Amino acid sequence: MTTSLYERVGGQPWFDALVERFYEGVESDPVLRPLYPEDLEPGKRHLALFLGQYWGGPGTYSEQRGHPRLRARHLPFPIAERERDAWVHHMSAAVADAEADEATKAELLAYLGDAATFLINQRPLDLRPPGGGRQG
Ligand code: HEM
Repeated sequence: MTTSLYERVGGQPWFDALVERFYEGVESDPVLRPLYPEDLEPGKRHLALFLGQYWGGPGTYSEQRGHPRLRARHLPFPIAERERDAWVHHMSAAVADAEADEATKAELLAYLGDAATFLINQRPLDLRPPGGGRQG
């Protein structure tokens, strides 16, 4: 039997606090704030539940929200490298301030960085075909 990361850090309250700190960064970030809705509370809860579930906690996120489909859910938000880097910046700060051993923090950061890269849905200008990709 191996214990999950969720259990090791102390369960859902740890993820709630992590996301709370992350959102403090988002609130004052000129790149990210415009992408988020006025009321940040529902999104906070969804992200915290998703992360808890991902790392071995109960399936509350999927019960409430269905399959995560993270890429599809992020398509309405234009995410280029700049947005990805801003997101990872605030999440890294939140993880750094968390109570956990260094191996656990490294495991979380590796996952979060990769997941954020996977959600990039805007190509940089110099990679777009001539005419910006539109025909005619
Ligand atoms: C790459 C940069 C990212 C940006 C700019 C971004 C932006 C957003 C925005 C604007 C929302 C909507 C919030 C709301 O409705 O209140 C959202 C929701 C969410 N994001 Fe991200 N996100 C990013 C990366 C990630 C990553 C890496 C993960 C997971 C590891 C993630 C997980 C989620 C989840 C679970 C939700 C809630 C989905 C739901 O409605 O159930 N996001 N994100």
